[in-house]
Amino acid sequence: MLYLDTANLDQIKRAEEIGIIQGVTTNPTILLKESQQREEIIKAILAVTNGTVFVQTVGTTDKDILSDARHILAAFQDERIALKIPAHLEGIKAMKRMKSEQSDVAILATAIYSTEQNVLAAIAGADYVAPYINRMQNNRIDAYEVIAETRKIYDEQQLATKILAASFKNTGQIIQTLCAGAHTVTIPYDLLTSMANKELALGAIQQFNKDAATLTSKGDQNE
Ligand code: E4P
Repeated sequence: MLYLDTANLDQIKRAEEIGIIQGVTTNPTILLKESQQREEIIKAILAVTNGTVFVQTVGTTDKDILSDARHILAAFQDERIALKIPAHLEGIKAMKRMKSEQSDVAILATAIYSTEQNVLAAIAGADYVAPYINRMQNNRIDAYEVIAETRKIYDEQQLATKILAASFKNTGQIIQTLCAGAHTVTIPYDLLTSMANKELALGAIQQFNKDAATLTSKGDQNE
């Protein structure tokens, strides 16, 4: 499972053409880059993807967050919409209430910098947690240890919550995160392309194409 961390329509369309993404994750900062209001851009994203579209709630209290969550669900009326809720105390309260109100709506707990947040979000009923790999590393937090600890606890306690890790700046972080135990990741489009377009592979593919062309021209000469 792989998600795209962007609200850019061209990038989402190109990733959809590849056909291997499960959905799209957004946050207010990502939406701001597209210079459109939240409803407009999310509707446009829903039109170009078949996958899940995660929309982040805003607000400072559990009541604000819950009210924004209800607003998001009412505005789009689409079963592909999932909620992203920040995993501080107010957000944890909101997750728990949202799950008892509408258990079928998937919740991704976000803004995660610790195993502790992952534990609380899982107990509150979050379907996914999004630990921020690059941001943890920028703050000298051992991101892979957080992933490994979280996976161990989830597995041992038989918690159904999945680790959907986020905040990546290079492909090495993605691989190390998956090796540490994350179930899945959400990544920017440039990292999706650089995961496939490895220099050595491109060189080998170029040589194969050259040799195939030479072979064809030899066949033509023999006719
Ligand atoms: C996604 O869920 C996060 O909001 C996002 O990956 C954060 O990424 P950044 O650290 O590059 O802003």
